[in-house]
Amino acid sequence: MNLLNKDKIPQHIAIIMDGNGRWAKQQGEDRIFGHHEGVNSVREIVEAAGEVGVKYLTLYAFSTENWNRPKEEVDALMELLVATISMETPQLHKNGVKLEAIGDLKSLPVGCFNELQESINTTKDNKGLTLILALSYSSKWEIINGVKEIAEQVASGKLKPNDITEETISSHLCTAKYPDPELMIRTSGEHRISNFLLWQLAYAEFYFTDTLWPDFRKKEFYDAINAYQSRERRFGKTSEQISEKAK
Ligand code: FPP
Repeated sequence: MNLLNKDKIPQHIAIIMDGNGRWAKQQGEDRIFGHHEGVNSVREIVEAAGEVGVKYLTLYAFSTENWNRPKEEVDALMELLVATISMETPQLHKNGVKLEAIGDLKSLPVGCFNELQESINTTKDNKGLTLILALSYSSKWEIINGVKEIAEQVASGKLKPNDITEETISSHLCTAKYPDPELMIRTSGEHRISNFLLWQLAYAEFYFTDTLWPDFRKKEFYDAINAYQSRERRFGKTSEQISEKAK
């Protein structure tokens, strides 16, 4: 943490938490055990993100595609979510964390939806880290919804096709009120984006690590930020233009 440049902390970090199942297998346990251990990583990373001054942390906790997993794993994950949100909310609240969620939340089991809403409500006025859980989320689902809303505005004459800008699209996504992530981390050695924030990650730096999610703790998180800080973000410009601007 001491090695991090405090002036270059990403405002928004997005994480694909991957490798719980493989971690459990390595321990000779079933996959659910890995998800349980993954919660300990979630706790540490949320704490670390708050400590270093990250403003938004988005965690890909359950994708639309995850509904296709065996029923017993889906049920166990939903139960784990309810238990975790219920157990962790007092501490999150104490630490000033504001919990929010993106995704097709209505498709969650009612108990899970209610627990989530309760925690969102309890923490809504907090001013520290905003923790965004992506639940039953997929980027293509989100883009389709956004495009439908825009199409309706066009059909009703409220919006001209020519007036559609980047801002129009961004404002119709679930993430409308957040800045785009500057850093996306994926654990477990997979080098894919898996239908996660496809629009929002257009200029993000990607950090891939072989570490499995249950082993991804504060040190690994600082390593990721450190790697981000050593990169030059050019946004399509030349290196010379970037160093000229910094003078
Ligand atoms: C990916 O590992 C992980 C998930 C699909 C679930 C992530 C959930 C948690 C860490 C626990 C609950 C989270 C919160 C925010 C309370 P995988 O199962 O795909 O692992 P594998 O690729 O090794 O099979």
